[in-house]
Amino acid sequence: MRKIYVFDTTLRDGEQSPGVSLTTEEKVEIALQLERLGIDRIEAGFAATSPGDLQSIREVAKRVKRATLLSLARCHMKDIDAAVEALKEAEDPCLHLVLATSPIHREYKLRMSQDKVLETAEAAIRYGRKFFDKVEFSAEDASRTEIEFLCKVTATAISAGATVVNLPDTVGFATPDQFGAMFRTIKSTVPGIEKIQLSTHCHDDLGMATANTLAAIANGIDQFEGTINGIGERAGNTCLEEVIMALETRSDFYGAQTGIVLSEIYNTSRLVSKYTGMSVPGNKAIVGANAFAHESGIHQDGMLKHRGTYEIISPETIGASSSKLVLGKHSGRHAFKEKLADLGYSPNEEQLNIAFAKFKALADRKKHILSEDIRALMDENIANETK
Ligand code: KIV
Ligand code: ZN
Repeated sequence: MRKIYVFDTTLRDGEQSPGVSLTTEEKVEIALQLERLGIDRIEAGFAATSPGDLQSIREVAKRVKRATLLSLARCHMKDIDAAVEALKEAEDPCLHLVLATSPIHREYKLRMSQDKVLETAEAAIRYGRKFFDKVEFSAEDASRTEIEFLCKVTATAISAGATVVNLPDTVGFATPDQFGAMFRTIKSTVPGIEKIQLSTHCHDDLGMATANTLAAIANGIDQFEGTINGIGERAGNTCLEEVIMALETRSDFYGAQTGIVLSEIYNTSRLVSKYTGMSVPGNKAIVGANAFAHESGIHQDGMLKHRGTYEIISPETIGASSSKLVLGKHSGRHAFKEKLADLGYSPNEEQLNIAFAKFKALADRKKHILSEDIRALMDENIANETK
C-alpha cells in the first residue's frame, strides 16, 4: 500500500485559532504526544512571529527525536534566518516557506506581478537550501490560482530545490472534484514532479476540508496537512484524525496507509483540547463524546446483536473507552433489559413491562437518564425480590 505522510500543524496553524495561546511547556508536551501518535512531520511554529515562538520551537526541537520538525517562514531572508536559529538543534529539520500565488493575494496583499512571485519564491528556496536539506514550499491560496501559473510556480519551486511542494486550499473554497482535478493537472504537466513530494493543506470554511484532502489523496499526493480536532484559523484546518481514520477504514478504496498509531488518537485529541481550551463537540466525528454512543431502540437492538450493524470503527481502535448505549426516550426494551441486568435486576416479563412503561414516561420528562434514576424507578415500582 502507498505510504501517505502526515504533517501536523496543531502548534502553528492550530495555535492561530482565535483565543488560543500555548505555553512552551504545553507545546513540548503536545509535540511529544504527536510523536507517540506516529506523526511524520510536526510544524512547531512560525519562528519570526515573536521571540517566544522562536524559543518554543527551540525547546520542541531539543525533545523531538523521530519526526521531521518544521518552522514556517515567509519568503523573506529574515524569516528564514529566524527558522535557522529555531531549528538548529532539531534532529531532522525542514524549512517551510510560504508565498501566496492567487490573483487576489498578488494584487491586494503582496502587490507583486506573476514574474515577481516566481522570482521571490526561487530566491527564498535557494537561500533556504543553503541551510536545510529539506525545504517545503507552500503556494498559499493555490486553489484560487490560475492553473497555468500554478504549474509554473510548482516547476520553479522544484528547480530551485524544494523537496516538498504544498498546494493549499487556504480559504476552504475548493470542491472535491475541482481540487482533485487540480492535482491531476499538476502531476501530469509539471516537469520534474516525480522528484518531489506533493502535499495539500485544507481549511474548513465550507465544511469540505476532509473531503478535499481525500480528493487530493485519491489523485496521487504524498502528504496531507492538518491539525488535531481540526482547530485552526476561522473554521479550522483539516481534521487529521478524520482523514487518518477514513484512509484506515476505507483502505479498500484509497489503497493508502499512514502508519499512525491509531490507539493514541483519543489521548491526543483530549490533550489538545485541554491545553487549547477548545472543547470537542459531542457529535464530532471520531473523537466526539457521542461518536460511539447509541440511543435509539433500533440501533441499540442492532448493537446488542452485532456491533458492526451501527459501528464502522470500534472505539477501542482509537483508544477510547467502549461503545455506550445511552438510555433515553428513543431506547428500546432490549437495551433497557441489558441495563437492568448490569445494575443487578432480573425482572420477570410482567415486571419488565411495568418498569419499561415507567422508564418511557420518565424519559419524556428527563433528557439524561442516569443509573440512579433506573434504580429509583425499580425500587419504587417493582418488588424487591427482582434484585
Ligand atoms: O492555509 C495556508 O495556506 C497555510 C500555509 C502557510 C500552508 O497555512
Ligand atoms: Zn493554513
